[in-house]
Amino acid sequence: MRSKIVAGNWKMNKTMAQTETLLGELAAKVPDTDAEVIVAPTFVNLAAAVNQLEASVIQVSAQNMHYAENGAFTGEISADMLLDIGIGTVILGHSERRSLFGEDSALLSKKVHTAIEKGLRVIFCFGEELEDRKSGNHFKVVEEQLKVVFDLPLASWKHIVLAYEPVWAIGTGETASPDQAQEMHAFIRKAITSSVNKEVADKVTILYGGSVKPNNAQEIFSKPDVDGGLIGGASLKCDDFMAIVKAL
Ligand code: 13P
Repeated sequence: MRSKIVAGNWKMNKTMAQTETLLGELAAKVPDTDAEVIVAPTFVNLAAAVNQLEASVIQVSAQNMHYAENGAFTGEISADMLLDIGIGTVILGHSERRSLFGEDSALLSKKVHTAIEKGLRVIFCFGEELEDRKSGNHFKVVEEQLKVVFDLPLASWKHIVLAYEPVWAIGTGETASPDQAQEMHAFIRKAITSSVNKEVADKVTILYGGSVKPNNAQEIFSKPDVDGGLIGGASLKCDDFMAIVKAL
């Protein structure tokens, strides 16, 4: 059985007061579920979020981190800093980090290795752009992006969650159809089977992200290779996020 996860990536949204309000609502309304429920507020609110959710099943993730242990990296946050405040999970490779902040596979590989060495779980994001899909290159692009995790030692895989987020579906209101999501998730397992092994491919949790909303979540989550979702916009509203949790 693979673990099921619904994670909310809050991106650069919510002040501290707004974070406290939303977390209070979420903690009060989170349903009894086998799925893991994770929220990823912005860095400055992580410590307060961990404290506020101490008695809740809801976990807290970071949205990014630096690969170095410490040092002269102005404005950056290390794995140890996250662990020190009680964070167990970090999102790496989000398409906004790739496209807006120039993060490539070489850099992401360093980040993923550091995160896992330090004991963090990684939600590793990847996904093709619209032109890749239009030109039929989407499988090739995704397989290339996955090389970052194919290089990991076998023992690392239990600390990896994959999140397929087609760039054309992020924040656009245009979601991949459930069949498109299933097709890609099945392809990802096939690629892991050939590059790593079948046991890893069968066990790894693969989330879908990109315009998941209360009205489409259930159909997407019903697909056999989709183990949950990474939610952007809809994770900023308690009722929407909880409806998506219930859909899983
Ligand atoms: P939306 O759900 O707003 O499309 O964002 C998805 C996403 O980028 C989650 O990481």
